[in-house]
Amino acid sequence: MRLTTTLGTLALLVSAAAVQGAGQTAGRTLIELPHARFAIGDDPARAQPGFDDSQWAELSTLANYEKQGFPDYDGYSWYRIHVRIPASLKASVRWPQRLHMYLSSIDDVDQTYLNGVKIGETGQFPDDPQGYATRWNALRDYYVDVATGLVHWDADNVIAVRVYDGSGGGGFYRDMPTLGMAEIVDGLQLDTARSRIEYQPTSFSARLKWVNTFPVALTGKMDYDVYDAVAGKVQRHASAPFSVGANAESELAVEAPQRAGIELRFRFTETRTGAATETVYHAPYLLTPAESPRPQINGALVLGARAGSPVYYRIAATGKAPLAYAVGALPAGLSFDADAGVISGKAPAAGEYRLALEVRNALGKAQRTLTLRVGDQLALTPPMGWNSWNAYGLAVDADKVRAVADAMIATGLAAHGWTYINIDDGWESAARAADGTISSNSKFPDMPGLSSYLHERGLRFGIYSSPGPLTCGRFLGSIDHERQDADTYAKWGIDYLKYDLCSYETLMPKQPALADHQAPYRLMGAALAAQPRDIVFSLCQYGNAEVWKWGGEVRGNSWRTTGDIEDSWHSTKEIIDSQHLSAPYTKPGHWNDPDMLVVGEVGWGGALHPSRLTPDEQYSHISLWSLLAAPLLLGNELTRLDAFTRNLLVNDEVIAVDQDPRGLAARRAWNQDDWQIWVRELADGRHAVGIFNFGEQFRTLKIAGLVPELGAGAALRDLWRQRPLAPLTDNSNVGVPAHGVLLVAVGIAGAASDGK
Ligand code: GAL
Repeated sequence: MRLTTTLGTLALLVSAAAVQGAGQTAGRTLIELPHARFAIGDDPARAQPGFDDSQWAELSTLANYEKQGFPDYDGYSWYRIHVRIPASLKASVRWPQRLHMYLSSIDDVDQTYLNGVKIGETGQFPDDPQGYATRWNALRDYYVDVATGLVHWDADNVIAVRVYDGSGGGGFYRDMPTLGMAEIVDGLQLDTARSRIEYQPTSFSARLKWVNTFPVALTGKMDYDVYDAVAGKVQRHASAPFSVGANAESELAVEAPQRAGIELRFRFTETRTGAATETVYHAPYLLTPAESPRPQINGALVLGARAGSPVYYRIAATGKAPLAYAVGALPAGLSFDADAGVISGKAPAAGEYRLALEVRNALGKAQRTLTLRVGDQLALTPPMGWNSWNAYGLAVDADKVRAVADAMIATGLAAHGWTYINIDDGWESAARAADGTISSNSKFPDMPGLSSYLHERGLRFGIYSSPGPLTCGRFLGSIDHERQDADTYAKWGIDYLKYDLCSYETLMPKQPALADHQAPYRLMGAALAAQPRDIVFSLCQYGNAEVWKWGGEVRGNSWRTTGDIEDSWHSTKEIIDSQHLSAPYTKPGHWNDPDMLVVGEVGWGGALHPSRLTPDEQYSHISLWSLLAAPLLLGNELTRLDAFTRNLLVNDEVIAVDQDPRGLAARRAWNQDDWQIWVRELADGRHAVGIFNFGEQFRTLKIAGLVPELGAGAALRDLWRQRPLAPLTDNSNVGVPAHGVLLVAVGIAGAASDGK
């Protein structure tokens, strides 16, 4: 389809523009690429410079093609950008060896050619030997060695981009693609994933790993400031010679205080060219105190089940090993494995049962009541666990899932209530059996075996499908087989289904009525309800038609309120900014799901990297999700859990906010000047209050009276640090780092009311 013929493809020359991305020097000449020619379909000839694209549509590169006249198109397409590259570009840098092509993000996969020669590829196409892997949210930074002669200076060049879109938005989006010259230092990157970080009580030390991705040795010096954002000043300056070989790496030992607001501001200057690159490292700091050696029972203390359904409940408990578990008042039909601390069996008749949990060790005992509510409600507290998508994308397989389950226990996360192990997209076989039964593909040779593996460990097993013919990753969906698939899931021992709209969207009327939105979920909801086991139903349709108002009506237990999250502050904050709309609809068994957690190492099936959220952004992320009573589903490579991420995920007082049995979400009670205060009523009569500083600097705020719950005299407890703060006075000032949070409990806990 041709949209316009009048707009020639424009490439703008911008002088001294600011450049994106870390590790680059401002003040360099950039050529902006705001437009491209576009056509759907696929043909290798389109890579060639001489190909005739004069009849193609002219699109902006700043938004998906769906928004520019190609609604609902999934599959192959090509962009072609014609650009004159002036030789003067080379004069704008000191090392004119590499052309830098920044192509922003391309949804989902791309292969990029310059003048007919492939110069970059991100993600995997469906016909790749490894199978399809989307990298819709990766930034594309491609470098072209000018010595290859590929760049036509002072002449026309054609950048041709072959795109494959699996579902949803497709093609270029995000920000301005640009061309410019790289400096010799641009290949230098801080690799925090492989840096060794050690935490002492008040300081941290790290051997930071720097990687040079360019084939040229770098010699120079590294300057760094230890900047204290709380004090607003540089605490210390250090400078040392620093070199790193061609395509090699080097370590740099650093030490800094371990507390909020510490930034290490690096500047590497290369001797020969004088070019410099700057990197800011937000130093991690641990807030959750070390686990007590005394026994402690953690996690959800209210469990919903339907009569006769299988029950699995792992007592989440910490304390110095060995721990001895006991359960009193166990209803008939349930049994208890005292070694594993797992209650299992069949749920008794409808009613409320109060089980006496006890955990002992040499230092003492802990006792708590588990309320088993047998009726028609599941997921009485938000599901907590792990989902494969953000780590492995479509590359998930059974061995990885088993390893994650082992890690869930070995890291101690299960002892804090993390129990679901959910496979996302990518497990389905290419075709159904002759009788229509769905089966798993060769990556999952034995679903019932995997299910037993998880259940024996007291973990729960989740799976994924779509109401359409295909899932978002183009595997088989459940259309016309809803009941059959639900039967299969029950046979396999599935405890949780994520049901993702994907291709069903194209079957819906152009202007869907509410009933059209509900129909596919109603169908699967009924099919799950007919099973002889409890399967938590998680709706994924990105919040369409205000699903929070009707998700419960179609038997949903949770529903996504947003599109997909990414490990960027932009994405996380965008999600945060819409959650006040759905929050009031939260109640036990009916949870808003602002998407999975982006902490730890994530990668969506591509190279894993540590979350790009700063430590403070991660504290805000977990705090807000807990205030919202959101499902807490990790999406990281759990077999490589670093100390910071583990510490972030084992805070029982923060988790208790998420799992609070009253099941009310926080309200956004105050929103001014980039400050937000969220207030959640807790079952014990206290309020959990998150004071978020969404500004760009460390700031202080006088909090008394800003919301009714913050009245002078109120008792305050810092939940991350697990210690009381001085009672609130009219002058109480709290300091919160940029994008960070102070999460407190306000008031005095009344009579314990677990399960109320
Ligand atoms: C998306 C969904 C993601 C993931 C993916 C799998 O639509 O929002 O969470 O499930 O599909 O293909």
